[in-house]
Amino acid sequence: MIMKTCTPSSVLLVCLGNICRSPTAEEIFRQQAAIAGLSIKVDSAGTGDWHIGHAPDERAQRHAKAHGYKINKLIARQVNENDFRNFDLILAMDAQNLADLQAIENDLADTENNRAKLALFSEEDPTYGGDDVPDPYKGGEDVFEEVIERIESSARAWIESWKAR
Ligand code: 4NP
Repeated sequence: MIMKTCTPSSVLLVCLGNICRSPTAEEIFRQQAAIAGLSIKVDSAGTGDWHIGHAPDERAQRHAKAHGYKINKLIARQVNENDFRNFDLILAMDAQNLADLQAIENDLADTENNRAKLALFSEEDPTYGGDDVPDPYKGGEDVFEEVIERIESSARAWIESWKAR
């Protein structure tokens, strides 16, 4: 319930590789914000560096497209300290992503007070609140579908919480 007070001007979605969950979340979040009439800068990044410069995983692209989300032009990048200065809110797809982000945040100088708030992506979700968005990378097609369902639900919950203001 940390962001109830106001709509952020920028949101960063973070997973491990930035090729499955967070690029999908980036496009879903962008579309939902636009439909709600909210002007929010949306981006995504990964905590890992293996896929920097890569397009989203082919399976993620295919499942996203089947639900009306075009993510093929997105390019993976790694999260960095400047993201904590440049975004109002950083949302982690799972608890490990959140712990890794907290470790980066802990390395920032204490004097920097104008930094992003951190939360789990599912935090506001009445259905999936507190759950991880499962890592689909080594999973089957069913996990990619579950990822879309959970991301749509949790993104909607954030947008609704801001629209209600
Ligand atoms: P994502 O999925 O974090 O949803 O992008 C993964 C992509 C790649 C790897 C792990 C998870 N990997 O180990 O390379």
